[in-house]
Amino acid sequence: MKIVGVGCGPDMITAAAAAAIARAKVVFGSDRAIDLARPYIREGTEVHEIADYQQLRSLPADAVVLSTGDPMLAGLGYLGGEVIPGISSMQVAFARLGVSLVRCAVVAAHGKDHAAAIRDASLEVSRGKVVFLIADPLFSVPDLAAALPVEMRIAVCENLGYPDERIVVGTAGEPPVPETGLFAVVAGRF
Ligand SMILES: C[S@@+](CC[C@H](N)C(=O)[O-])C[C@H]1O[C@@H](n2cnc3c(N)ncnc32)[C@H](O)[C@@H]1O
Repeated sequence: MKIVGVGCGPDMITAAAAAAIARAKVVFGSDRAIDLARPYIREGTEVHEIADYQQLRSLPADAVVLSTGDPMLAGLGYLGGEVIPGISSMQVAFARLGVSLVRCAVVAAHGKDHAAAIRDASLEVSRGKVVFLIADPLFSVPDLAAALPVEMRIAVCENLGYPDERIVVGTAGEPPVPETGLFAVVAGRF
């Protein structure tokens, strides 16, 4: 099976990923991943929305599994097989903010223990890193802000790559508030 990154928003897909999708006979993906891949899916290709993520391990060898952003950033790359990278939300956020990825520490909070993620983020920021925090819709930016020095900068990066992209930069003292469920947070001295 091939795990193909479709980018975190429209037109954030590599030529290699687009070609793999165009060659595919069977494609599996989430609603959002299928939407992003739609321009490259040929007529006649079987397209399945993933209903049960447990079953993905037993897919046929020629199946293409779509993963939003980059499969190796909290995506479906763990399934094994060939992985074709995509442009991740982390790359887009750091590009928009003009911060070098060399300074980045990734903290995954998506579907995980938020309190533990906040502790990890706070530690990384204290070491001088700029944290890219992979959030989920329930993640509390004020709770993260409360764990950081008041002058520390926090950016909420929403719907990256989409027409309604929104990036708001504030501080831990006055943290920005996400307005939608698809957002990531960048925190540190940047
Ligand atoms: C399961 S993770 C997948 C990340 C993906 N593999 C990537 O490379 O961007 C989903 C989380 O990534 C972040 N994310 C993904 N796409 C995003 C986008 N277009 N704008 C903002 N955040 C995004 C959000 O924190 C979202 O809840």
